[in-house]
Amino acid sequence: MGFLLSKTESCISIPQKILNTMRSPLKSGNIIVHKEAMKTTIAFFVGCVFGLFIGLSLTKLNLSSNLSNEHHKLNESTKIWVPTNPRGAERLPPKIVESQSDFYLRRLWGLPHQDLRIKPKYLVSFTVGYDQRDNIDAAIKKFSENFTIVLFHYDDRISEWNQFEWSKKAIHIAASKQTKWWYAKRFLHPDIVASYDYVFIWDEDLGLEHFDAEEYLKIVKKRGLEISQPGVDLSSDFTWQMTRKKDGVEVHKEAEEKDGWCSNPPVPPCAAFVEIMAPVFSRDAWRCVWHMIQNDLVHGWGLDFALRKCVEHAHDEIGVVDTQWIIHKSIPSLNNQGKAENGRTPGEGVRERCHNEWKMFKERMANAEAAQAQGHNSTN
Ligand SMILES: *[C@@H]1O[C@H](CO)[C@@H](O)[C@H](O)[C@H]1NC(C)=O
Ligand SMILES: *[C@@H]1O[C@H](CO)[C@@H](O)[C@H](O)[C@H]1NC(C)=O
Repeated sequence: MGFLLSKTESCISIPQKILNTMRSPLKSGNIIVHKEAMKTTIAFFVGCVFGLFIGLSLTKLNLSSNLSNEHHKLNESTKIWVPTNPRGAERLPPKIVESQSDFYLRRLWGLPHQDLRIKPKYLVSFTVGYDQRDNIDAAIKKFSENFTIVLFHYDDRISEWNQFEWSKKAIHIAASKQTKWWYAKRFLHPDIVASYDYVFIWDEDLGLEHFDAEEYLKIVKKRGLEISQPGVDLSSDFTWQMTRKKDGVEVHKEAEEKDGWCSNPPVPPCAAFVEIMAPVFSRDAWRCVWHMIQNDLVHGWGLDFALRKCVEHAHDEIGVVDTQWIIHKSIPSLNNQGKAENGRTPGEGVRERCHNEWKMFKERMANAEAAQAQGHNSTN
């Protein structure tokens, strides 16, 4: 191949030199030199074309033998079937299969193994509208370089975020007016975020003045929490007592609720429970939770009551971290992206759907469990 290339090069560059010598005699009217030059040129071209022809034939020979080799290999390879490969990839030699991915940004140049200075081990996602930019900017600063930052944009404003230095290192994903769980289901598939030890799936209206993500994870690891959330400051609005920050403890795993809510042993919302506004999942817990998220139930209501199905020892492995805590600002930003209908405000319409989804999720879970109990495991 090298031979052919240099031949081609000389075929182009040398006649140019001869043509150049042809020009000056023409100007001076010296026809003999012109004719000589012409002869040389023709001779050169004949030689060149002949050379090219030989070269091409040789290459063609090479190519066709390569092709038949390839063909042979191809035919051989169609017989390969590796059942332990991921489903659908059984024909591939196992060592070429990459079944998982990540959000690491790479360079367009240099050697791939030198692309990354550090490989973040954790991922934090926020579902954001541009109106909340200052809050998100403050929040991002609480996450070290060990975090991959993913922003899900529901309001179609993406480029404006580039005013923040960190924005270029973040992954931006945009789809109009979707919810956190809609994005998480579609863009945080467990195989896509498999590189991360922990995944944070957080709302945009959280105050992180008293929170440091690295410190938080130290506690989570020490206490073996597979699913967790930071305690919520007492001044916030509360739905459930479990999420309230407790004083004097590092972590709590139980809380007292209104009369009649807690059973013995306690179950959600009195134990084995965190809310859906600021959950943190271990890799294994997220793999399970992702499968439980329904494609059409976009608000995720009821998911928190079912999280315990995703860990072996729910009472021990689900908890609230009290020494790293947050403030829930309860800004209904996404609710306002709803639609005014039948005399109701956009917010009311969204809220009604939330409650409906919760009911539907409970029904689906109950049906699924009943079917399993009767031995009908197929989804068909
Ligand atoms: C593949 O190889 C088999 C023999 O192993 C042969 O019978 C068959 O014709 C080949 N198929 C093709 C498409 O070359
Ligand atoms: C990032 O992770 C490394 C390895 O675990 C750790 O040594 C380092 O302190 C972390 N960075 C920050 C800012 O905490």
